[in-house]
Amino acid sequence: MKFFRAVIVGPPGSGKGTISSMITETFGLKHISSGDLLRRFGASQSPSVQLAMKQGKLVPNEMIEDVVFPELRRHTHWLLDGFPRTFMQAKSLMRQHPVDVVVNLNVPDETIVNRLHGRWIHIASGRIYHSLFNPPKVAGVDDVSGEPLEQRSDDQPTVVQRRLDTYHKEIYPVLEFFKGLNLLKIYTGTESKALWPEIQKDIKHFMEK
Ligand code: AP5
Ligand code: MG
Repeated sequence: MKFFRAVIVGPPGSGKGTISSMITETFGLKHISSGDLLRRFGASQSPSVQLAMKQGKLVPNEMIEDVVFPELRRHTHWLLDGFPRTFMQAKSLMRQHPVDVVVNLNVPDETIVNRLHGRWIHIASGRIYHSLFNPPKVAGVDDVSGEPLEQRSDDQPTVVQRRLDTYHKEIYPVLEFFKGLNLLKIYTGTESKALWPEIQKDIKHFMEK
């Protein structure tokens, strides 16, 4: 297969990053997360991008495309996480990089606020932990590199609520758009491990198509 391009969509804290690791390890895809890319550039980001992220608002479309699209061009088989988040972004993606399948994690909001409170991340790799559900071997330390883990400044409950509100406000037309193209697969539940077998089966099917 020459190209395989998938998108994963879901509310903040729904487990996009967690499921993405399962998908990319199993199928050899490159994980491209818009949020991870933004965080990796960190202090070199413009003040308006840093502020938008801290407040749980979306960064402007042109800026996010400048970060994401060059990365998409560098790889043939990828899983895109965190993009698109608006109808405009969805149209722009399909114009420039048509995708093969869209995985939608449909996780209730109540599950999410609690989860994000315990999240720890390794910024350089994007590896994700949870203090209760998926703890690192040594508290506060990345299992692979031994480097310190960090908590995200946008994981405080008030900012999480803003991110959830933004998500619900923007995502409906995005999901409708992909549904109209017959690309949308919806997975409803709270446990990433319980959703995984169905997702794995479907991705395999789409890759073999
Ligand atoms: P981004 O980094 O994309 O954040 P997000 O969409 O809010 O999603 P998260 O990364 O918070 O959650 P996730 O679904 O990956 O969950 P995870 O697997 O970590 O974006 C951040 C910001 O960047 C945005 O607010 C915006 O400002 C900007 N931005 C990014 N893309 C943009 C775009 N396209 N346009 C404009 N602006 C953009 O899981 C969460 C936690 O739960 C972890 O601790 C994990 O270990 C734990 N967990 C996962 N699954 C389970 C489970 N089943 N049981 C228990 N714990 C679990
Ligand atoms: Mg994530």
